[in-house]
Amino acid sequence: MEVIIRPDEADAARLVARLVARQLRQKPDSVLGLATGRTMERVYAELTRMHRKEGLDFSLCRTFNLDEYVGLAPTDPQSYRRFMGEQLFSKVNIDIRNTHLPHGQAPDLKAECLRYENLIRSVGGIDLQVLGIGESGHIGFNEPLSALQSRTREKALTPVTLAQNAPLFGPDREMPTHGITMGVGTILESRRCVLLAAGEAKAAVIAKAVEGPITAMISASALQLHPCCQVIVDEAAARDLKATDYYRWIFENESDWAPFRDDPRGSGVAK
Ligand code: F6R
Repeated sequence: MEVIIRPDEADAARLVARLVARQLRQKPDSVLGLATGRTMERVYAELTRMHRKEGLDFSLCRTFNLDEYVGLAPTDPQSYRRFMGEQLFSKVNIDIRNTHLPHGQAPDLKAECLRYENLIRSVGGIDLQVLGIGESGHIGFNEPLSALQSRTREKALTPVTLAQNAPLFGPDREMPTHGITMGVGTILESRRCVLLAAGEAKAAVIAKAVEGPITAMISASALQLHPCCQVIVDEAAARDLKATDYYRWIFENESDWAPFRDDPRGSGVAK
């Protein structure tokens, strides 16, 4: 695992977008694993900008989102399908038939989960998986005690996640209590993964996920098992990390990161 600290949320999100863009340029028919949530909005805005201004091409790529709420129609304003449409799919030249999310209203949820797993397998697996992290330590909707080898399945949301996401549904609407999510095992099979976290609210959980023990209580800690995982955080989310000197040294000195050190649109240089 590598941890990269950027000065602020905008720089961190831009770095993630640049990693996705590099993947698409190297392999235009990449299979991307995508996440939703507030943290991802800046990433998708930057990818949209790159599409419009730099010709970043999405025409051949295929996408699989991590999760969807059980019970919500794809057209529901709070569904993750709708989020992806609004934030990315309608703004770039992606073929909508190549975009996949679990169906939250499938009549047989077990069959739907199996279909989703098989679909991912049938395209050869995920090349690059983008992840956020919840305050419960979840990746996707893999709430505490998700088995580290779990596959796509229905999962009950924890009170922490309900509290985190309920404001998005507004005061007059109950949010769903369950999600369909790729499993931790499904995520670990992606060839690369990049987790983005920003803001103080994520500082404590990032420290547990990155520097704590691997435990099913913090699903993101399973990423320590992944052979190629990069965690991108802003200074606020890095607050509780201990080995920050080492992480900063990696970004400033390792040749893999050289193309990303110059951020012409950046707000500052990470020191
Ligand atoms: C959603 C997902 C979740 C979010 C996480 C962070 O598809 O995978 O794990 O990434 O809950 O959400 P935000 O970014 O809203 O804090």
